Amino acid sequence: MYYLNRLSIATALAIGNLAVGSVTYGADINYGRTLYNKDCTSCHTTDIHGPKSSIKSPEKLRKEVSQWAKDSGLKWSEEETNDVTEFLIKEFYLFDKAEK
Ligand code: HEC
Repeated sequence: MYYLNRLSIATALAIGNLAVGSVTYGADINYGRTLYNKDCTSCHTTDIHGPKSSIKSPEKLRKEVSQWAKDSGLKWSEEETNDVTEFLIKEFYLFDKAEK
């Protein structure tokens, strides 16, 4: 019974994460910052990121991040891509605040 419960909780959590489906859900922005600083600052700094960008949604930003990671020969997991995207949103793009 105990194991069964643990299993259902784990399953429920996994499904919950998928169901939320947001680009940014549960991302670790500190890890995102670390990755960005390590792998993405050879051509530009974070100065190029911000609300004035033509990128206006988390989905578009995520695509951009994913593309740059691929172009840079990095093999970022979905999670790592989300972490970096979330870091850029929270600290620079601020989509939510701009919309309000
Ligand atoms: C080879 C050089 C280079 C590397 C490495 C690089 N970038 Fe860029 N990045 C650029 C240039 C140049 C632009 C501006 C291009 C443009 O205006 O379309 C840019 C633009 C961007 C933008 C769009 C900025 C905006 O809001 O308009 C994002 C997001 C971005 N880079 C993310 C990353 C990430 C994440 C990494 C690390 C995986 C990375 N870049 C690595 C050269 C690079």
